[in-house]
Amino acid sequence: MHILVTGGAGFIGMHVCSRLIKENHEITIVDNFDPYYDPARKKQQLDQVKQAGHFQFFNLDLKDENECRKVFEANQYDAVIHLAALPGVAYSVKNPLAYVQYDIEMTINVLKSAGEAGISHVIFSSSSSVYGNKDKKPLSEEMADGKVVSPYAASKYGAESFCHSYQHMYGFQLSILRFFTVYGPFARPDMAIPKFAEKLEDGLPIEIFGRGTSRDYTFIDDIVDGVEAVLHSKHENETFNIGYGEPVTMERLLNSFQTFYPDMELIQRPWRTGDVITTWSDISKAQSELGYSPKVSIEEGIERMVHWVKSCRV
Ligand SMILES: NC(=O)c1ccc[n+]([C@@H]2O[C@H](COP(=O)([O-])OP(=O)(O)OC[C@H]3O[C@@H](n4cnc5c(N)ncnc54)[C@H](O)[C@@H]3O)[C@@H](O)[C@H]2O)c1
Repeated sequence: MHILVTGGAGFIGMHVCSRLIKENHEITIVDNFDPYYDPARKKQQLDQVKQAGHFQFFNLDLKDENECRKVFEANQYDAVIHLAALPGVAYSVKNPLAYVQYDIEMTINVLKSAGEAGISHVIFSSSSSVYGNKDKKPLSEEMADGKVVSPYAASKYGAESFCHSYQHMYGFQLSILRFFTVYGPFARPDMAIPKFAEKLEDGLPIEIFGRGTSRDYTFIDDIVDGVEAVLHSKHENETFNIGYGEPVTMERLLNSFQTFYPDMELIQRPWRTGDVITTWSDISKAQSELGYSPKVSIEEGIERMVHWVKSCRV
């Protein structure tokens, strides 16, 4: 298959592209090294993809409709995996309008170009944040109702609706994947696990926001398995949770780190606006319909994360 990956220089993108190249797919990446975090890091991530093999690369801004169309006119793609976005819950609280531009307008550009180019399968990267704070757990796909708690989540929920409307207009296969807190080597530097790993390796204290939180942390290899499984699936329009399927308390996460850093110091901070209390994915739909089967426990994942951080320091 020839697959277009938007945001392929990002954290999830580099892992998805590396796997798909190794599996002999033809890959085209579009990414503009957006400065949400250090563009040098994104270039490094793209270099990692180069180690997997050849791909075509476009450095352009998908927020520009004409630029976006150029990528879709350059080749005939079998599928597009749309990962390009402005991520980050905390940043969205301070800069909500940027999320309308990136996560809604840019997604519309991609959907429209994909429809006009006759692409048969569009895969959209959504987020567990679309569930907001729900009393009932685990979170199954039909429970998202728009009652979200951050501008980031609102933009993802809105973008999902645009995906449905363009699927209706153009008839392509639509797969919406709701990723649950992703971590692993090259994890986005604004997220808790990579921040903890870097700080602890430097012998610095780590900050904990709020109390009683838990997250369904999902190792990047499992996320890539989910993306790969949906790429080969046949359905018209479906949404899938891609998580590990287990809520990990902050205490359990910290215990996993403490194995490697027994003297770690914590700084307790107040709750941050926009954060949800718990995420816990019901992955039964992805398991039964895609054969998805996550494998990496939090203890194994943290061990791999710590080894990666240490290997970057030598
Ligand atoms: N990492 C997670 O835990 C997580 C969880 C749920 C959902 N997601 C979603 O998965 C996707 C990938 O996330 P990530 O963690 O890899 O983020 P990332 O920031 O590492 O990757 C996004 C990439 O998109 C690119 N991009 C942004 N704006 C662009 C533009 N206008 N034109 C071209 N490229 C542009 C960026 O340069 C970046 O390389 C995002 O849609 C994100 O919302 C991530």
